[in-house]
Amino acid sequence: MTTPLLEVRDVSRWFGGVRALSHLSFEVPHGRMVSIIGPNGAGKTTLFNVITGALAPSSGDVRFEGASISGLRPDQTARLGIGRTFQIVRPFPGLTTLDNVAVAALAKERTRRAARVRAQEILELTRLARFADVEARNLTLARRKRLEVARAVALRPRLILLDEVMAGLNPAEVDQTIQLIGRLRSLGVATVAGIEHVMQAVQKISDWIVVLNFGEKLAEGLPAEVMHQPEVVKAYLGARYADAAVRS
Ligand SMILES: Nc1ncnc2c1ncn2[C@@H]1O[C@H](COP(=O)(O)OP(=O)(O)OP(=O)(O)O)[C@@H](O)[C@H]1O
Ligand SMILES: [Mg+2]
Repeated sequence: MTTPLLEVRDVSRWFGGVRALSHLSFEVPHGRMVSIIGPNGAGKTTLFNVITGALAPSSGDVRFEGASISGLRPDQTARLGIGRTFQIVRPFPGLTTLDNVAVAALAKERTRRAARVRAQEILELTRLARFADVEARNLTLARRKRLEVARAVALRPRLILLDEVMAGLNPAEVDQTIQLIGRLRSLGVATVAGIEHVMQAVQKISDWIVVLNFGEKLAEGLPAEVMHQPEVVKAYLGARYADAAVRS
């Protein structure tokens, strides 16, 4: 059996009396796309913070390529190959799109020139090349979100965590993001996307879906199956509709 790229093992995280994550376990195989679906407060952002080391787990272990990364700092997990985007996008507003990516690329490239060349390539990949000279503050939300992905890609990750990368986007923009995730996958980069509401587009692209509710794993499975599981239907539609929905 091959070792998964990422293993979340029995992870819990408390904030005072609030249990944001509760005995959560799941795996991400190399190069696959896993969606973490759950309503507001389900624990998606906390999960990403625990994986990257921004927060320590209260208990449990996170493993990357077979080795524990619990206790590492975000800069260390980034160096190992874990990239992320933030729910509240935070590119440098006064820098151009190209410079935002070039600054990130400097972490991996030897010269400023090499960083700019690499940044250009990433702007092609993220379909932002037309906006290379536009200041980040003047981009639309969808493009700022793609810029966040571009900045994460600049660190040459094996795994990218996307926090609410679809939130606030219109259907055409969601589609573009889905296509971008597909391009990342064809480069061998695995993705974990935290998503508030499941969308058809997300179901289509995900290899695996984990459903979180109040920090607990409610269900996980193939996209075609997981949203029909009675616990999931119940949590999303309310118990009243569960029977009918499962039958249909
Ligand atoms: N730093 C913190 N201090 C205290 N409580 C926190 C902190 N961060 C998160 N929480 C709590 O942990 C729970 C999970 O929050 P989290 O932000 O991880 O959920 P989420 O799934 O990302 O939600 P959203 O869809 O709103 O982004 C919530 O009850 C939240 O209030
Ligand atoms: Mg969140």
